[in-house]
Amino acid sequence: MTFLFNSDARRGAIFAEAFARDLPDVPFSMDASSVDADAVRYLITWTVPKDLGRYRNLEILFSIGAGVDQLNLETIPAHVKVVRMVEEGIVRMMQEYVALAVLALHRNLPSYLAQQRAGTWSAIPQVQAAERRVGVLGLGLLGQAVLERLRPFGFPLAGWSRSPREIEGVACHHGDTGLKTLASKTDILVCLLPLTRETRGFLNAELFSILPVGAALVHTGRGPQLDHEALLSALDSGHLSGAVVDVTDPEPLTEGHPFWSHPSIVLTPHVASVTQPATAVRAVIEGIRRHRTGLDPIGLVDRERGY
Ligand code: NDP
Ligand code: OXD
Repeated sequence: MTFLFNSDARRGAIFAEAFARDLPDVPFSMDASSVDADAVRYLITWTVPKDLGRYRNLEILFSIGAGVDQLNLETIPAHVKVVRMVEEGIVRMMQEYVALAVLALHRNLPSYLAQQRAGTWSAIPQVQAAERRVGVLGLGLLGQAVLERLRPFGFPLAGWSRSPREIEGVACHHGDTGLKTLASKTDILVCLLPLTRETRGFLNAELFSILPVGAALVHTGRGPQLDHEALLSALDSGHLSGAVVDVTDPEPLTEGHPFWSHPSIVLTPHVASVTQPATAVRAVIEGIRRHRTGLDPIGLVDRERGY
């Protein structure tokens, strides 16, 4: 029963060491060309390998990342469990990034950077945190973790999910009506939704029009969720005041795309959060142990929902 690692060698070396130490009865391989395909029970990868059919005895396909939209689920046999990455390194980095982005927007950093470039010394009236409402789309592992990290700053917090949730200190909404309520009362909107049929193109003109004038966006979900034209026109009309965008479609953006130079957009190259191998391997080993005792691994993907 082999574990096949299909990602970069630097992370692979850390995984190999942990497997040898903590799960020695599961042989570890980083070489698909020499592995005994019938022995492969577990595979970790970012995308589905073209020759997945070789691994006739595969039991679990682990995504190396938190998202699974890059995996074409239809190409993975129904009996194979698909598991997204749930590990503390990703969570910590996303907490840092969203805190950074929310605070930058809250404290007018994009405007001050523009002023610096223009040689202008001028204070912008500062709204206090208690009057800056932060709304998070997606109340899963990452959405909840960033709300927790934002809590001490004193922002009124709200969140939105598919099914009803209860989180202390967070006004939780769900469904279509809940979305409108949340959006109409949100000054900084954070997107941490997975990419599914329902969330593709979700950050669009209609949603932006419900946000209060002067609201801002932090987008750390997936590129195809954001309608670029809608964001540009909401910013250019002054309806929205700024955006921090970590994910785009395509990635990277094409040369000359307006996001590169827009004064109200802070753009980062899909780096909000990155799987940390030392903690990720612990999560994967735990997932295998659970599976072997008949339990579902943490992060098991519901193929119907797509996340
Ligand atoms: P989870 O699966 O834990 O949570 C997803 C949340 O989104 C849940 O609360 C779910 O609702 C909600 N949701 C899904 N579909 C809908 C919908 N149609 N309407 C309303 N709510 C919906 O995911 P994570 O928190 O672990 O990760 C979220 C996403 O973050 C990833 O899928 C990935 O795209 C992105 N990501 C981005 C990174 C980056 O560097 N930019 C890094 C890591 C992840 P419910 O609670 O009802 O199920
Ligand atoms: C992920 C990502 O899904 O890096 O983990 O975006």
